[in-house]
Amino acid sequence: MTLLQLERVTKRFGGLIAVNGLSFKIEENDILGLIGPNGAGKTTVFNLVTGILKPDSGKIIYKGEDITKHKPYEICKKGVARTHQLSKPFINQTVLQNALVGRFFGHMNKISDEEAIEEVSSILKLLNLYDKRSELVKNLNILERKTVELARALATKPSLLLLDEPAGGLNPSELSQFIDTIKEISRRNITICIVEHVMKVITGLCNRVVVIHHGEKIAEGAPVEVASDLNVIKAYLGEAI
Ligand SMILES: Nc1ncnc2c1ncn2[C@@H]1O[C@H](COP(=O)(O)OP(=O)(O)OP(=O)(O)O)[C@@H](O)[C@H]1O
Ligand SMILES: [Mg+2]
Repeated sequence: MTLLQLERVTKRFGGLIAVNGLSFKIEENDILGLIGPNGAGKTTVFNLVTGILKPDSGKIIYKGEDITKHKPYEICKKGVARTHQLSKPFINQTVLQNALVGRFFGHMNKISDEEAIEEVSSILKLLNLYDKRSELVKNLNILERKTVELARALATKPSLLLLDEPAGGLNPSELSQFIDTIKEISRRNITICIVEHVMKVITGLCNRVVVIHHGEKIAEGAPVEVASDLNVIKAYLGEAI
């Protein structure tokens, strides 16, 4: 089943067309890679899907419903969660408190504190953050802060998780661990769309990749297929190849 569908979505910033007539689908339980050179429009796509930005034209369909005009909190409640390229945790709160924000969002009177803490603790264990649960986020390193954001996103119990460059700055052993964690998240019936420049992550996780350049889709298919696509090589390396 198709979980998310973009239909000819366009977003302009003044004279700049950041996303240009873009159409693609994410199938349920897929791990889709969304790749492209710097400035291709990847983060803008996430901002459009989560309702932070509204498209100038086109439609965004989630679980069969047109969510193009929905507000960010409505889209979150429907099960779309994301992490940011530059992580935005609440730095003066603890790791546990940050994750609880995600769990309580929209469910404040529907779940007890004990239940919420138990659920969030299992997410922190999955992400190897449980030992740091009482630490203030401002005392954590960048990688840990990114992971806190992932914990908060997972705590909203998403059906669709959008990850914006989650693996930047990881060393090789952290990368392998990160890939395993995302596979585990995927096994929990969460559909994932991942924007990433680290190709090891894309090839290690995704069976399908959408490549965008200047906001347009230039290729789609298996990672090995798109990596040898001439248009993709040109987009990354320029015309002089
Ligand atoms: N709020 C904004 N106002 C004006 N221009 C913007 C805005 N957000 C993005 N842009 C521009 O839109 C284009 C696409 O930006 P976007 O951040 O989506 O690219 P990206 O593919 O995520 O790039 P990167 O790989 O560097 O993160 C860029 O030219 C960028 O400068
Ligand atoms: Mg970006």
